[in-house]
Amino acid sequence: MRVYCAKDYYHASRMAANIISAQVIMKPDCVLGLATGSTPIGAYEQLVKWYEKGDLDFSKVTSINLDEYRGLPAENDQSYRYFMNTHLFDFINIDKKNTFVPDGMEPDAKKACKDYDGIIRSHGGIDLQILGLGHNGHIGFNEPAAAFAKGTQCVKLTESTITANARFFASMDDVPKEAYTMGIGSIMQAKKIMVIVSGEGKAEIVKRAFLGPITPEVPASVLQLHSDVILVGDEAALSEYNKSI
Ligand code: GLP
Repeated sequence: MRVYCAKDYYHASRMAANIISAQVIMKPDCVLGLATGSTPIGAYEQLVKWYEKGDLDFSKVTSINLDEYRGLPAENDQSYRYFMNTHLFDFINIDKKNTFVPDGMEPDAKKACKDYDGIIRSHGGIDLQILGLGHNGHIGFNEPAAAFAKGTQCVKLTESTITANARFFASMDDVPKEAYTMGIGSIMQAKKIMVIVSGEGKAEIVKRAFLGPITPEVPASVLQLHSDVILVGDEAALSEYNKSI
């Protein structure tokens, strides 16, 4: 694993955006696995700036997002489809037909998961997967569990995730209790993975995920088995990790 430590969130975001840009420049028709959450926002802002300068062309890029809340329509401003449109897709020349997010409104969970696995497969997998990290070590919405999930699954969100995400909703009760998420197996099949972390609040889980035992109780710990992972973070998020290596 390569670790890039930036002094603050702005610089970590720039580093992450540079890696995404390099991927798009090297392979204009690449498949990007994209993430939501507050952490990648800075990288997306940077990509938009470079696109506006004329440095980047997303016209042939396909994107496949990690997850979506079950029961939220695309127009809901808390849905991950809405997030992607308003933080990235609306400002670059990606063809929205080539952007995929699980269908939160599909009531048949089996069908939603099967369809999403079909989308990932039909695009030949993911070239560069972007990940944030949940406070309990979740990636996408793969929560701590007894086993690593292979394909797309419908998950019940843990109390800790509901609490962490409540800041985006009017109240705790408004946070959906379930989500569709790409499985750990699909994430691990990506050719390259970049995890972005920021802030002191992530310091402990970064250490556990990347230096602790590999266990489905800390879903991100499986990334230790991937041969091409880049961890990009600010000093605060990497502080415990850096102390322990
Ligand atoms: C959500 C998303 C994850 C994300 C996590 C961390 O639960 N499903 O993909 O990594 O939040 O979010 P943040 O970056 O806001 O800390």
